[in-house]
Amino acid sequence: MASLTITPGYPLRGTISVPGDKSITHRAIILTALAEGTSRITRYCRGEDCLNTMRALQSLGVKIDESAEELQVHGQGLWGLTEPDRLVDCGNSGTGIRLLTGLLAGQDFFTVLTGDASIRRRPMGRVVKPLREMGATIAGRKGGELAPLAVTGTTLRAMTYASPVASAQIKSALLLAALFAKGTTRLSEPRLSRDHTERLFKFYGLPLKREGTTLIMEGRPSVGWTAVPELTVPGDLSAAAFFIVGATIVPGSDVMITGVGINPTRTGLLEVMNRMGADIQLLNKREEAGEPVADIRVKSAPLRGVTIGPDLIPQTIDEFPVLCVAAAVAEGETVITGAEELRVKESDRIATMATELRSMGAQITERPDGLVVQGVGHEKENGRLTATGGQSHGDHRVAMSMAIGGLTASTVSVIHDTDCIETSFPGFNHKLLELLTERH
Ligand code: S3P
Repeated sequence: MASLTITPGYPLRGTISVPGDKSITHRAIILTALAEGTSRITRYCRGEDCLNTMRALQSLGVKIDESAEELQVHGQGLWGLTEPDRLVDCGNSGTGIRLLTGLLAGQDFFTVLTGDASIRRRPMGRVVKPLREMGATIAGRKGGELAPLAVTGTTLRAMTYASPVASAQIKSALLLAALFAKGTTRLSEPRLSRDHTERLFKFYGLPLKREGTTLIMEGRPSVGWTAVPELTVPGDLSAAAFFIVGATIVPGSDVMITGVGINPTRTGLLEVMNRMGADIQLLNKREEAGEPVADIRVKSAPLRGVTIGPDLIPQTIDEFPVLCVAAAVAEGETVITGAEELRVKESDRIATMATELRSMGAQITERPDGLVVQGVGHEKENGRLTATGGQSHGDHRVAMSMAIGGLTASTVSVIHDTDCIETSFPGFNHKLLELLTERH
């Protein structure tokens, strides 16, 4: 089992890039696989989660050539997927298993989807139930609440559905199902979740419209879509988040992160950090594959606690572990409410972050739907946690957040069980080391 040793006392300095966006990579693989012709997906996320989605599409009959720089996807057209001859293993990826369940519900063959122990504990009813309303035949443990899921593809019918949860995975699974359903599907969600699927559908000219808060999707388009030769995935803001917080909380830091996606449905971290007093600049703004992108420059700054309510949760959802680290060294109290979704991520992130940060000397209290963090404050303790170790609980974002927390500790920290970082950010430790050893 891998571990990560963090030696504090060095500022983060220099220019780096981060892996391609994980959410967009999953979607790009699926949509290029359904396109007519060959696409190159460049700067894709090589994390295990996305590689599992790539392998899933390969097992569905799509030829994909893989190199470190790009994926070459030989699209099979809208109706070109074929039955796999074995289980589809989505590994640790909630996005992978939920999107693929939606995609496969309307095919004319049988598939079984599964994943690792964490995935087999996470709720699948949130996609299975609405898909069944569209006529899908899906069986699974606990009546379809848990994976493995056995999907007997069938002819789906369109539906009108108001999701009770602001979840891009639910929305995207249903949009992919709606693509193969007869009729017009209407979807809404309580708050806007990340809209990468909508943007990619639009990029490819698919018949999707938004009217107010409702998405309207015409199923079974008479013509499919043609591959766009090159699709460049923006850098992942959720990966950049670790360096944004790290550079902010370690005095003397100055970091530039190039080519990062700044889709407004993802930038809650930037908004919260700015409110906390961070020094973050967005430079060289541009657009890539229908997504806004910028270079992000971060310099260290003292932080103060803030209140984060339900309105900001969807666009910040994956950044709460590292935000808790920022809150732990800020001046004053940070209160997070309306974030109960954190309990059903790769780990129960309310419980795991409370446990781990407490063991690093932070004052943190769990609430059913969030956390209250009492910052150590720069005046009293020089913004330092007391150290010494941490457990990832098999959760990549917890592992990387603890590593960032260790940068402000008073002694060396060892973060245990860090193999999970591979799911989203291969090479994280090298990037961090690069920034810590940069000399000017
Ligand atoms: C994702 C959506 C979010 C997010 C996850 C990726 C996606 O999950 O937490 O890491 O790519 O659609 P929910 O849809 O469960 O909120």
